[in-house]
Amino acid sequence: MGMFSTLFQVILIISIGRVNGCICNQNIGVYELKKGNFSVKFTNYGASIISIVVPDKYGNLDDIVLGFDTTQDYVRRRGNFGAIVGRVANRISNAQFILNGTLYRLEPNDGNNTIHGGSRGFSHVIWEVNTKSTQDPNPQIHFTYRSFNGEEGFPGDLIATVSYYLLSETQLAVEMKAIALDQPTPVNLAQHAYWNLGGHNSEDILSHQIQIFGSRITPVDTHMIPTGEIMPVQGTPYDFLTPKIIGDNMKKLPNGFDIYYVLDGLKGRENRKAATLRERKSGRVLELWTNADGLQFYTGNWLRNLTGKGGFVYEAHAGLCMETQGFPDAVNHPNFPSHIVTKESPYEHSMLFKFSTE
Ligand SMILES: *[C@@H]1O[C@H](CO)[C@@H](O)[C@H](O)[C@H]1NC(C)=O
Ligand SMILES: *[C@@H]1O[C@H](CO)[C@@H](O)[C@H](O)[C@H]1NC(C)=O
Ligand SMILES: *[C@@H]1O[C@H](CO)[C@@H](O)[C@H](O)[C@H]1NC(C)=O
Ligand SMILES: *[C@@H]1O[C@H](CO)[C@@H](O)[C@H](O)[C@H]1NC(C)=O
Repeated sequence: MGMFSTLFQVILIISIGRVNGCICNQNIGVYELKKGNFSVKFTNYGASIISIVVPDKYGNLDDIVLGFDTTQDYVRRRGNFGAIVGRVANRISNAQFILNGTLYRLEPNDGNNTIHGGSRGFSHVIWEVNTKSTQDPNPQIHFTYRSFNGEEGFPGDLIATVSYYLLSETQLAVEMKAIALDQPTPVNLAQHAYWNLGGHNSEDILSHQIQIFGSRITPVDTHMIPTGEIMPVQGTPYDFLTPKIIGDNMKKLPNGFDIYYVLDGLKGRENRKAATLRERKSGRVLELWTNADGLQFYTGNWLRNLTGKGGFVYEAHAGLCMETQGFPDAVNHPNFPSHIVTKESPYEHSMLFKFSTE
């Protein structure tokens, strides 16, 4: 495919006016990256993925992530469909932590705990967009958010950047970076897409098969806070070391999965395989690669009667999340790898999604 046919396939589709109460001056838009029949749409509200269209084994195109029809829905409604969550993804116990002797209080938005950096976090703010083409032949889009000292209770100014690239007609790469401008701060970003390889408007994900290359999990208490233990999955319903049907393992966990897997293999700059997801009817296969410590596997347990794209109503387990990220509540667990970012040690997190059919 020639350079020019791919270079300028970043298309601004619509742009609506400012959002009331927003601290930024940017408009909210919808953007598309496209290569052949592979299309991914985004909004700069939460640096979110709003659709991913890929062929099934017969060549039929379906949108395989849950979401809403309009950007106004992303603004007005709760949930983190396809968004980047931060400054610290997952839960922080008692909505507080101590860093270098100072106590930082956050917003309790999940019982007494904080989830996904607070109710606004990074997922309910407008990010700056840069669709400027470079000499790189891959369609790409870059989102930047400048978070201020004290925002949602976190210390220090921080610049976060999320870049999405279509590397081919079957590969989507995500690069998340953050730089602490003055003081050390915890950073743990996660891409919160809800997947359903049968199509966002198909049956639930219980018949999907998943393999997770993580032989340990961090068990949680009744408030979903890690106990601090790091437990082998062997002999438990959490064992997806070999491919298994999600619904089969869930028979012993009626509420579904919402648990952090420590990924096997050395964490480093290079991506390693984290999970493989398969849906039999469509023949779609999704491989996830990452350089993160682990991933939160969430089976959409709390979705209820939520009207999404095309008026389709999402119920429990309509989609699943594979949110690569650092250990949950690491700020309160000295035995978990730290995700404190300093001026000298910027944050870097990459994901690669490889789509195929069989
Ligand atoms: C896109 O999909 C159509 C319909 O399935 C198919 O005919 C065409 O070959 C596909 N194009 C590419 C580039 O895969
Ligand atoms: C920790 O706090 C001390 C005293 O306030 C300060 O001198 C030091 O620079 C701080 N260290 C970091 C890493 O922020
Ligand atoms: C929050 O903490 C208070 C005080 O410890 C306790 O009484 C209350 O039950 C907690 N709420 C939840 C939802 O855990
Ligand atoms: C589902 O949501 C719709 C619209 O919000 C509401 O009218 C309806 O009563 C709800 N149904 C159930 C069973 O909760």
